[in-house]
Amino acid sequence: MQFVKETLDTSKIDDPVFAISKKAQEDKDPTTVNATIGSLYDEDGKIVALSSYYDIFDKVDDRLKAKYAEGADGNSAYKQAIKDHVLKDHIELPTDVLATAGGSGAVSLVFKDFLKEGDTILLPEIAWASYKTMAYEYGLKTTFYKIDDMDDILNKAHDLSKIQDKIVIVINSPCHNPTGLSLTDDDWKKLIDYFNKLDKPVIILNDIAYIDYAYDSIKAHSYLDIFNGIANNVLIAIAFSISKTMTAYGSRLGALILIHKDKDILAGIHNAIARSCRNIWSNANNGAMIAFSEVMKDDRAFVKEKATYIALLKERADILLKEADEVGLRYYHYDEGFFVTLRCEDNESRDILHAELMEGHIYTVKVNKGIRIAICSVPKNKLIGLAKRIKQISDKR
Ligand SMILES: Cc1ncc(COP(=O)(O)O)c(C=O)c1O
Repeated sequence: MQFVKETLDTSKIDDPVFAISKKAQEDKDPTTVNATIGSLYDEDGKIVALSSYYDIFDKVDDRLKAKYAEGADGNSAYKQAIKDHVLKDHIELPTDVLATAGGSGAVSLVFKDFLKEGDTILLPEIAWASYKTMAYEYGLKTTFYKIDDMDDILNKAHDLSKIQDKIVIVINSPCHNPTGLSLTDDDWKKLIDYFNKLDKPVIILNDIAYIDYAYDSIKAHSYLDIFNGIANNVLIAIAFSISKTMTAYGSRLGALILIHKDKDILAGIHNAIARSCRNIWSNANNGAMIAFSEVMKDDRAFVKEKATYIALLKERADILLKEADEVGLRYYHYDEGFFVTLRCEDNESRDILHAELMEGHIYTVKVNKGIRIAICSVPKNKLIGLAKRIKQISDKR
């Protein structure tokens, strides 16, 4: 008997990261490397909880933590703090912010509120797994672009514009999950120039979940200037995640930032999306919103603490990639971020390698056409020699 809607997937949620991570924890071999966990961990193998955030969160009055937020779209101080923190002085056009349930909430709202069932959404070919499951949830079809090929993006968008009255494209940059690719300002310029010329509405969902862990914050935000040149047919929707920025994955807070030339159009979109927030999760985490706006009143301690982890991520990436180059292990272009992904264009041989790595006590996550190594959670001593071990295992086949 079918109780839930026929269109929903009733199979068990596949959480490969959790399952493989559990296997890794059970593997007591001294050479075991658990490269599955996508949260920031320190060199002692403990999850990072930034004290510059949690000290302030702990001081938020319990009665404020207990309260609902000001509105379905969030608290005004939080929305302003998000604008200041993410957009800085880059945007001259009208902007709007809604508080969301994590970055997932922001991404999900865009999937839900801009396309209708049966429409197609344009996604990166290698990507965070939730994009696909969200598309499925909302009855959207999917089409994919090669993440490192601007012309492929333009071609796919062009093809879609011929069959659909609206385009939604997801661009996860900077610090793409799972490759670590960050688009250059020239890449962005090319994209915006092209989208401006399309005679259809284009919604660019720019997922910036990991932006605060880019190597150079000034450089990481410079592409935002290009958004000032959007034409009337283009709407920018930026998905931001407090989970990553504040190491607060459990607090379920994020934001959706909208940019468009016309503030009245923006107001209508805001109202529609705020209703979705109200109807799905009612309102966002009040205590976490207050803590974020308090931290941002003087962000020096946060920036300083975060910088130590950015440096750590860089050290870890440098170890792995230098050794990968030395032994000839192929990986996707990496600029910065939480993950490095090994190239494995054929998914069948990727499956075999992934299993063989586990036999060799190396636990990773399979992604389309690749194998993800979460450098965010692997201490440096475990990364030393890892590329060589992987290469030896893959060469044996
Ligand atoms: C690319 C990307 N976008 C968005 C998110 C959303 O995270 P959260 O909902 O915890 O903010 C994640 C989390 O893993 C992610 O990897």
